[in-house]
Amino acid sequence: MTRSTQPTEFDVIIIGAGAAGLMCASTAGYRSKRVLVLDNAKKAGRKILIAGGGKCNFTNVKVEPQHFICNNPHFVKSALARYPSSDFIELVERHGIDYEERDHGQLFCQHSAKDIVDMLLTECEWAQVDIRLRHEIIEIERHNSGFTLATNQGDFSCASLVIASGGLSMPKLGATPFGYKLAEQFGISVAPTRAGLVPFTLHDHDKQRFEPLSGVSLPVEVSAQNGVKFVRDLLFTHRGLSGPAALQISNYWQPGESLSINFLPETDALSLLEQLSIKKPKQSLKNALARVLPKRLVETIIDDSALQDTALNQLSNAQKALIEQCVHAFQFKPNATEGYRTAEVTLGGVNTDELSSKTMEAKQVAGLYFIGEVVDVTGWLGGFNFQWAWSSAVACGLGV
Ligand code: FDA
Repeated sequence: MTRSTQPTEFDVIIIGAGAAGLMCASTAGYRSKRVLVLDNAKKAGRKILIAGGGKCNFTNVKVEPQHFICNNPHFVKSALARYPSSDFIELVERHGIDYEERDHGQLFCQHSAKDIVDMLLTECEWAQVDIRLRHEIIEIERHNSGFTLATNQGDFSCASLVIASGGLSMPKLGATPFGYKLAEQFGISVAPTRAGLVPFTLHDHDKQRFEPLSGVSLPVEVSAQNGVKFVRDLLFTHRGLSGPAALQISNYWQPGESLSINFLPETDALSLLEQLSIKKPKQSLKNALARVLPKRLVETIIDDSALQDTALNQLSNAQKALIEQCVHAFQFKPNATEGYRTAEVTLGGVNTDELSSKTMEAKQVAGLYFIGEVVDVTGWLGGFNFQWAWSSAVACGLGV
């Protein structure tokens, strides 16, 4: 390994050429800062490329502070107000990227997520940002006028160091705990991390029970024990539960807890059965419920509970109470989540109390900034995590 004796100097060095890093780089570059982005990966923006099934759900029409989980719920307000989703949409439009709005205000590229990466790289080029990939950071030292970084390809120094190295989700894509370790090196606390927006797995004893449901998908209302609920689509998989409803609620689930699932959030099951029993009193419970729910789900619910496939006009009060419970408050106890292997995000991270909400600078370490997912801010499913990356990056890019 060769090391230059004199480090190459920059005003700003950003570690991580992902969503937040690239956005921060162009913002600072446009302010005539000499900006270097370092990444150990072979490619920039790899998570963007696979996001949203390759179409990247790059933001949401409506972004509010309550769409984020953070120990300090006020922390996100300043950055989101300064760079709202409408600003990012305008940028996307300026680059002529076709996009579409899907349910819940989610905005996706019409063609490919690559459009977003190309846009960010073009912005960086216009702002004269130097991007260097395949650079392993070996050591970072702080001195009077800033920081010196030793890498496998030489040394670099800067006045402002921005950590945009992301979270722990999807280690296959190069996720590392770099940012958390660096925070700790500088005495900055890190809120405990865990996988978020992640599918659930089944207990062994539930595998046989739920196996027939693999592939069944339906809109449900799913609630965590703390009362947080979402109405979204749920997908039963051979491993457990997935789909937007499961991913959303995973952010609020704690190991050992149950989820309550309302399979008919829009319809009162008992009123429906009562109406049907007037028209077809001899119709079986299974056939009646299968009019509004997937047949395989109805069979599992009925076979699994003490419910029998009784004719509608024969249902006892006890059976009705059980139907109410099974259809509107089905209790599902996950074994665990699939963890970082498939998680979209990492909950927890660099403690927001340690950072300025205006610039993302560490309060105790002048010149050191944290942006994007490495910070203890996690968005809901729906483009909110990218919006946090864009907003925190701009706040920082204007502050460095
Ligand atoms: P990001 O992970 O994008 O970038 C971090 C960069 O740091 C990477 O380039 C990495 O190589 C680099 N790095 C890491 N360690 C390093 C080290 N030691 N040295 C040098 N460089 C290092 N969000 C959303 O809003 N809409 C969506 O559609 C999706 N979809 C989605 C799908 C999947 C499969 C995943 C895994 C995630 C999503 N997300 C999402 C979440 C979104 O991808 C995520 O929140 C942002 O990418 C976070 O941006 P950052 O720039 O903070 O990290």
